[in-house]
Amino acid sequence: MINIALPKGRLGDKAYAVFEAAGFGCPSIHAPGRALVFENEETGVRYFWVKPSDVAIYVERGAADIGVAGKDILLEYSPEVYELLDLQMGRCRMAVAAAAGFTDIQGRALRVATKFTNIAQEFYAGKGREIDIIRLNGSIELAPLLGLSDVIVDLVETGSTLRENNLSELETIAHITARLVANKASYKFKHDEISKLVSEVEGQLAVT
Ligand code: PRP
Repeated sequence: MINIALPKGRLGDKAYAVFEAAGFGCPSIHAPGRALVFENEETGVRYFWVKPSDVAIYVERGAADIGVAGKDILLEYSPEVYELLDLQMGRCRMAVAAAAGFTDIQGRALRVATKFTNIAQEFYAGKGREIDIIRLNGSIELAPLLGLSDVIVDLVETGSTLRENNLSELETIAHITARLVANKASYKFKHDEISKLVSEVEGQLAVT
């Protein structure tokens, strides 16, 4: 059995559809209800739905052999996992944004609101810019509007959240997509099963 952690939500549904098309389906996953674990002995897979930001933890600790995690989470937490494949879905970018008309005043720490504190620290350290991190858990776009921060570091997909809140994108920090990651020990001990799945999924991505 390969244990697979999927991120609950739209990205997980999309990733599962690719796994299914690649021959790793699990029909019970479509049953209504609130179950979180589904397995199919025939195809040798067991899927778990987990919170998107928790996928890397399940994989790092071996509760799942493989999983689908956003590159944002991999950059932020640097989990000890192997990154096997770019799934080319969940495409967005990590960006700096601020209220329209913002100009950076040098000489004092830039106040940065974000969920991604490590990514932000590293980005500004690379520029030699001193910052004051304000860690938030959601609705980050509010911070500059209320004067809580000067800028935000957050994910931007369509840009509509920024537009609707009169914020403009200043810089792109990283391009983000979902990645297939593997637990290091599982990759060694279940190498044949995992390699087969990776190559079938890769083949499926090429035709879609
Ligand atoms: C994400 C992100 C932005 C928004 C960007 O939030 O934090 O707020 O999506 O998407 P857009 O560019 O297409 O508007 P999410 O909905 O995941 O919720 P969050 O506030 O909990 O981060």
